[in-house]
Amino acid sequence: MLEAIHLSKSYKGKKAVQDVNIYLNSGESVGLLGPNGAGKSTTISMISTLIKPTSGEIKLNGINTIERPGEIRKILGVVPQELALYQELSAYENLKFFGSIYKMKGKELEKSIDKALEIVGLEDRQKDLVKTFSGGMKRRVNIAAALLHRPKILILDEPTVGIDPQSRNHILETVRMLNEKKGTTILYTSHYMEEVEQLCDRLYIMDHGEIIAAGTKAELLSILSTEDTIKLQLSRTDETFIDHVKTIAGVRKVEASHLQMKVIAKKGSNLISELVDLANQHHIQIINFHTETPSLEDVFLHLTGRTLRN
Ligand SMILES: Nc1ncnc2c1ncn2[C@@H]1O[C@H](COP(=O)(O)OP(=O)(O)O)[C@@H](O)[C@H]1O
Ligand SMILES: [Mg+2]
Repeated sequence: MLEAIHLSKSYKGKKAVQDVNIYLNSGESVGLLGPNGAGKSTTISMISTLIKPTSGEIKLNGINTIERPGEIRKILGVVPQELALYQELSAYENLKFFGSIYKMKGKELEKSIDKALEIVGLEDRQKDLVKTFSGGMKRRVNIAAALLHRPKILILDEPTVGIDPQSRNHILETVRMLNEKKGTTILYTSHYMEEVEQLCDRLYIMDHGEIIAAGTKAELLSILSTEDTIKLQLSRTDETFIDHVKTIAGVRKVEASHLQMKVIAKKGSNLISELVDLANQHHIQIINFHTETPSLEDVFLHLTGRTLRN
């Protein structure tokens, strides 16, 4: 349905997005996961025709959307990262304003506003001024705004950042409902692995402007099928010990914080006994340990050497 091909964007010669290929099939829920600064918002802005790519193409059912932006705007709803609401207007009045941008008016607009308010669960608060709303409720108004013209594709840019858990759950449920019940195609951007994992059929992992992995959760996890992950709790730790752990044969990555340590090693390495020996030599006690089933967080760590939130 929608595809971005070799998409790149540079700002003053600095590459924000580099050679990104993304496609969305109709009815899919797709995640775009990456840490801050990865290039997620820039990618979304190009897809939604807000900014022009430095190079590459975007096609909607074969139509070049860079040449014909109107084609995609008609069927696309975007929930931007930054809130854009009039604080001194009510939720309803804000939505009326957004509707006018889509050239909607009269009964049609009123019906759409009612429907959108119902979807985001703000019917009861529609007459209240936006300035009295929590961050989560403001986000929900923004989502309602993106739904007014009943888009076939909905793009959300980190819609749960900095909001209360209740609103967060509400938003996740809304997105799930739109996808499952209404067949809306979703592109959901986040740096929270669990959200993307819960919501999306397929995902792209982005870092430093590039897509570094893509596939279903199972496909991404299979990247790690050749590895074991062991988590340890230690009585104490120090740099020399950590450095020595890194030199154990088969060890690929070591992540330590406080008294917790995570060691990723080639499958079949004789890891546990080596770790016990090494800890003894350093007069460190292993308080407990367990082997872990890998998560998408581990996939990210494996691919980049960093955790998502660092
Ligand atoms: N308008 C801009 N001018 C210059 N640099 C930008 C601009 N927008 C984004 N960038 C840079 O591009 C990179 C990607 O940013 P962004 O797409 O916002 O990442 P994300 O949404 O994943 O956090 C960052 O290094 C950011 O500083
Ligand atoms: Mg962003």
